[in-house]
This record gives sequence, structure tokens and C-alpha cells, in this order.
Amino acid sequence: MGARIRIIRGDITTQAVDAIVNAANTSLLGGGGVDGAIHRAAGPELLAACRAIGGCPTGQARITPGFGLPARYIIHTVGPVWHGGGHGEAEQLAACYRASFALAAAHGLRRVALPAIGTGAYRYPLGAATAIAVAEARAALAARPELEEVRFVCLDGKTHDAYQSALRQGE
Ligand code: APR
Repeated sequence: MGARIRIIRGDITTQAVDAIVNAANTSLLGGGGVDGAIHRAAGPELLAACRAIGGCPTGQARITPGFGLPARYIIHTVGPVWHGGGHGEAEQLAACYRASFALAAAHGLRRVALPAIGTGAYRYPLGAATAIAVAEARAALAARPELEEVRFVCLDGKTHDAYQSALRQGE
């Protein structure tokens, strides 16, 4: 099963997969970080599609076409803002991954690429966030045989290292 999880360095907007996941905010109207990069690369049709959806609560996910991206779809999820860990952040972050994999499965999508949701502007500690990401990826891969690949795409080496050590845990 481990072979179905890949960790790579790169820019998620260039990934030619069935869906990439966006670390959005509740407005779904764009922002900085990976959200800004995805909106720039996908083009203005994405903003129109997100506007029509009308927002997304923390821990949930919504899907749009990929528009100008090589990926067919974009799954937008909203991570928790880190407030010290005592405000349900871990459960909310796990819910983001579960909702994203459930949406991918509902659309018959097999290869999904994800950023480290919550670990940038929302300040979720990297080690804890990547442990949740890997645990949820393993659970989704075990439960959904049609899911072929979960690809964690890391912009920087620190994030890449955190995923590698999360992957080594629980092997
Ligand atoms: N490809 C892959 N990863 C990226 C890219 C990219 N092009 N750009 C940024 N990242 C990484 C960051 O390095 C970080 O590891 O995505 C991770 C998540 O960081 P953020 O994008 O800041 O996401 P998050 O912490 O969930 O904060 C969400 O930021 O931009 C706003 O609208 C967004 O308000 C929302 C908030």
C-alpha cells in the first residue's frame, strides 16, 4: 500500500493528475499561498465557479473543474486556523482529508495530489499536520481500492522531510 503514497518536491499547479487539492479559505474566493497559485494557474473561470458555490465551512470540501490546469478537477478544502491545538484543529484537519478523498471517490478520480493543508498561513505545526495527512491517506487507500495514488506535493524541503518521517512512522 505504501507504493500508492508518493512524496515529491514541486509546484502542485503543474501536476497532471485527476484532481489537485486546494488549501482554501471559507470564502473560496482565493488568497495567497497555494490557493493564490492555483487561481493564477487555473484562470478567471475558477473564481467564477467558486463564487457560484458560495463558500465552504472549515473541514469540508467542494469540487470544481481544473480549467487551465493540467489536473481535471480541483478539490477545495478549508483547513483549521491553528489556535494552539485545543480547539478541535486535529479533527478538523483530518476531516479535510476525509472530505477530499470522499469527493475524489464520488467522482471516480484515481490520482489525487495534495499540498500540506493548514501548514502555511494557518500555522498548523508541520510534524503533526503531516502525520494526520499520511494517516488519512493510508485509511483512504485501504478503504478505496479505486484510489491509485495519493501524491503529497511539497514546495520546500522542510515539508518534504516532514512527510518522509510521517511515512516512516507506522510502517
Ligand atoms: N505547490 C505546492 N505547495 C504549495 C504551493 C504550490 N504552488 N504554494 C504554497 N504551497 C504550500 C506551502 O508551502 C505550505 O506548505 O502549501 C502549504 C499550505 O500553505 P498555505 O497555502 O498558506 O495554506 P494554509 O496554511 O492552509 O492557509 C490557507 O491561506 O492563501 C490563503 O486562501 C488561503 O486563507 C487561506 C489560507
